[in-house]
Amino acid sequence: MIFAANFKTNHTRSSTASYLQQLDSFMQFQPEESRCMVFPPLTALDSFGLKRVEVGVQNAYPMQKGSMTGEVGSEQLEEFGVGSIILGHSERRHKLGETQELIAQKYEYFKEREFTIVYCIGEPLEVRKSGDLKEYLGSQLENIDLAYERLIIAYEPVWAIGTGESADRETIAQTHDMLRQMVGSVPLLYGGSVKPDGIQEITGIENVEGVLVGSASLDVKSFEAIISNAQA
Ligand code: 13P
Repeated sequence: MIFAANFKTNHTRSSTASYLQQLDSFMQFQPEESRCMVFPPLTALDSFGLKRVEVGVQNAYPMQKGSMTGEVGSEQLEEFGVGSIILGHSERRHKLGETQELIAQKYEYFKEREFTIVYCIGEPLEVRKSGDLKEYLGSQLENIDLAYERLIIAYEPVWAIGTGESADRETIAQTHDMLRQMVGSVPLLYGGSVKPDGIQEITGIENVEGVLVGSASLDVKSFEAIISNAQA
């Protein structure tokens, strides 16, 4: 199972450092096959010296270094040994207007540098209600190399993100079955209001290989509860 925490625009450098130390100690008692990833804000990056927790970034620009005001390139990530990145998150697609073309460009760049890529896809409510779901999710995979061995796909329905209401079991099962047909053996995470309660129901679904957690990951005890409840 893969357990990934997306802090979004939360936590400071100092609160991230203590969170990670605590989580890393907790992870030492978890099964080897459990993979734990945390994506703090860029300002919190540091050399943490962790054993079990991988630290990644929520975004970066596809260049080593150069002139792109306000952005961070791979040189700045390498300083801290960062090797994982989230791409295609719905907040960047829908709220910041990031296009599929730019996302695919970032994908190629970080693939060449052998980053683990947590690639997010997910439909808004109107598509879930009356659109062509397969076509919509397919368009979010345009120009994405699905054969890349460090790719992880996170299915995060936009209507379940930050609402406190996760998608139901049936919806997750059907969508992940469909995605399995579309993407082959790429690990699939579910994201959208994942909480410690009910986690086993989600991780017990076929074709769910883990979770990407926002709000319920911000408190380290809550994220640890997600990890231990999933394995109970
Ligand atoms: P929430 O867990 O807060 O719904 O956020 C999910 C998410 O967007 C993770 O990337």
